[in-house]
Amino acid sequence: PNEYLIAGNRAESWAALEELHVQGKLKAIGVSNYTPAHMRELIQSCKIPPAVLQVEFHPRLCQTELRKVCEEYEVCFQAYSSLGKGELVTDSVVLEVSKNCERTPAQVLLRWAVQQGVPVLPKSSNPDRIKDNARLFDFTLSDTDMDRLSALDCEHKYCWDPSEVV
Ligand SMILES: NC(=O)c1ccc[n+]([C@@H]2O[C@H](COP(=O)([O-])OP(=O)(O)OC[C@H]3O[C@@H](n4cnc5c(N)ncnc54)[C@H](OP(=O)(O)O)[C@@H]3O)[C@@H](O)[C@H]2O)c1
Repeated sequence: PNEYLIAGNRAESWAALEELHVQGKLKAIGVSNYTPAHMRELIQSCKIPPAVLQVEFHPRLCQTELRKVCEEYEVCFQAYSSLGKGELVTDSVVLEVSKNCERTPAQVLLRWAVQQGVPVLPKSSNPDRIKDNARLFDFTLSDTDMDRLSALDCEHKYCWDPSEVV
């Protein structure tokens, strides 16, 4: 509904979270699906800055500007849909890198993010895949492979486009 798409609602929601934080009921507060404009608006008006921003992030959506904003304001930039909702595991570049480093395509996609200091939260309903997706800290992607993956950036969104929210 339109009423949720206005800045006033964001400000009111954030003030409520701040209040709960002050009361000690919330240890950390953050936002999701904020654009650079939403982040600047929040940082300028908040009493307590957000601890985290959770957004869609993968090689086809590198979020360069948003990552800079988070770095500037010391907000943890956190990835969702790192596997492109599962669709990126069949990308030809991802498959080539996967072959080079003898890791699964999902591990390549997740390692690409964590190697840049970005925490990930992949979803799987399969216990073997969950274990496989967690094995990210015993290998490194070469600079060449990192660059090849980052070169896939094309602003592609598997989920939705938060810039539509005014
Ligand atoms: N803040 C937000 O607005 C927002 C929006 C979207 C998502 N999220 C969060 O982010 C999490 C992950 O995002 P997501 O579910 O959109 O996408 P994702 O993690 O990129 O992809 C999940 C899909 O990948 C498949 N998959 C997982 N591991 C795999 C592997 N090793 N090999 C092949 N396929 C694999 C899964 O299938 P199987 O289950 O069959 O393994 C599932 O279909 C969500 O659970 C949610 O917590 C947050």
